[in-house]
Amino acid sequence: MIRAHFGIDRNPFSHEACGLLAYQQEILDTLKVHCQQGGFCLVMGTPGTGKSVVRDALVKEADKRVMVASISRTMHTYTNTIRILCQAFGIEHAASHYRCERNLIEEAFALRQAGRSIVTLVDDAHLLEIDTLRKLRLLFADFPPNNNLVLFGQPQLLSALALKAHEDIRSRITYSVSTPRLGPEDMEAFLHAQLDHCGLAHSTYAPEAMGLIVRTSDGLMRRARNMALSCLLEAVRARKRTVDLDNVNRVLMQPHWREERDIDSTSF
Ligand SMILES: Nc1ncnc2c1ncn2[C@@H]1O[C@H](COP(=O)(O)OP(=O)(O)OP(=O)(O)O)[C@@H](O)[C@H]1O
Ligand SMILES: [Mg+2]
Repeated sequence: MIRAHFGIDRNPFSHEACGLLAYQQEILDTLKVHCQQGGFCLVMGTPGTGKSVVRDALVKEADKRVMVASISRTMHTYTNTIRILCQAFGIEHAASHYRCERNLIEEAFALRQAGRSIVTLVDDAHLLEIDTLRKLRLLFADFPPNNNLVLFGQPQLLSALALKAHEDIRSRITYSVSTPRLGPEDMEAFLHAQLDHCGLAHSTYAPEAMGLIVRTSDGLMRRARNMALSCLLEAVRARKRTVDLDNVNRVLMQPHWREERDIDSTSF
């Protein structure tokens, strides 16, 4: 519908349009170095700041010398977590933890012999029970030293690890980084890049509409994207070629935005 209305071939703000932002690229490059060395890395940030996009890039760009196991269903128990690991390593899941762990360790050494390093990525790691994390940590302690565990999660992950009782985990961290909120200029540049990607002119959004979207996004890319897309749909519904302040304010009336803030009172 949007494509027909604006006469473009690509969907605006599609998830394929994901070249990395500078800070994401820097995190990715650093993680890649750690992946060769072995270590324990933490990537933390508020929801919608682009952590999973970095994880996906790490998976996509891993070369043949790296075996990547990616765990994203972190609500799982340890049993299911090692089941996922067994799957990633291409080995049979055994009945007992002990057998599973032994098989995984054997496979890890076989991979090392073949010149490959191992990277385990855990997304939404703040949902992982600390007990499960500790068991993983103990398992990886028996892996060859060039293995790397990368946790992606919300900032409370580090707060949980700050407790004295979890010092054994925290003290093993070799690299940690926070994904930032974008400042207004960077956010506008991000939205413009998305428009460029689908062939829409920057002027598709009136400057004051763009300004309000940027302010409402609070520096979070997911919010900015959803907001900008909803406004575009609103313009299509109103048969307009340019997203104006009225369109943005109509979107902001929706309950999930409304609670938040920032309805521009000048347009009422
Ligand atoms: N480099 C990028 N290019 C285009 N869009 C991006 C980029 N990075 C992030 N985004 C947008 O931001 C959204 C949120 O990113 P992502 O899912 O990586 O956040 P997150 O930090 O993992 O959030 P959560 O903590 O909720 O899992 C993506 O769905 C995408 O729309
Ligand atoms: Mg995520």
